[in-house]
Amino acid sequence: MAIDPTENPIDLFNAWFDEAQRSEPDNPNAMALATVGPGGAPSIRMVLLKGVDDGGFVFYTNLESRKGVELLANGPAALCFHWKSLRRQVRVEGPATLVSDEEADAYFASRPRGSQIGAWASAQSRPMSSKADLLKDVAAYTAKFGIGRVPRPPHWSGFRITPERLEFWRDGQFRLHDRLIYLRDGGGWSTQTLYP
Ligand SMILES: Cc1cc2nc3c(=O)[nH]c(=O)nc-3n(C[C@H](O)[C@H](O)[C@H](O)COP(=O)(O)O)c2cc1C
Repeated sequence: MAIDPTENPIDLFNAWFDEAQRSEPDNPNAMALATVGPGGAPSIRMVLLKGVDDGGFVFYTNLESRKGVELLANGPAALCFHWKSLRRQVRVEGPATLVSDEEADAYFASRPRGSQIGAWASAQSRPMSSKADLLKDVAAYTAKFGIGRVPRPPHWSGFRITPERLEFWRDGQFRLHDRLIYLRDGGGWSTQTLYP
């Protein structure tokens, strides 16, 4: 039986994600994020989905990291979820925009204190001569903030990937998999099935 399309792909994503949260042993919100560098070369790494709604898929990171720099240069983005326990894949493609300061502040405030300090101490994606340098910076920021609130670093925020195209893939017998594509079509969506 083919995948039953919902009118809005985010509803279908949420239905699959609910199932994944029940069946995946670890991090059902892990997704591969692909970005593109200035020369057109792709790079890819895992990040964690921290929110999804009609506006798109949100994750948080260091804005001076490789992915941060590539996305801030208006590079396109693609995401890929793979839930092994369900034998399903979801692909998302679209532009990235920064979340609002209020949204980033609220999420940052919800993080464990150690992760908040780490966001200040780690110059993510830049060369590090020794782990001791990082630990020294962690100690310095721990002392600096004392028992007070740790503010969100200016170099740390979230991106929202607003889908223009999504694909839902479900494993089928004899590799006769199901593939359902959604394409943004004006204010709505058009759908298309593809050969596996
Ligand atoms: C399961 C998993 C989840 C991760 N989640 C995040 C995340 O949400 N944000 C982040 O900045 N890095 C996350 N990382 C680390 C990234 O994969 C990556 O190593 C780091 O962000 C530097 O990437 P870049 O140099 O391409 O910018 C995660 C790694 C794994 C394996």
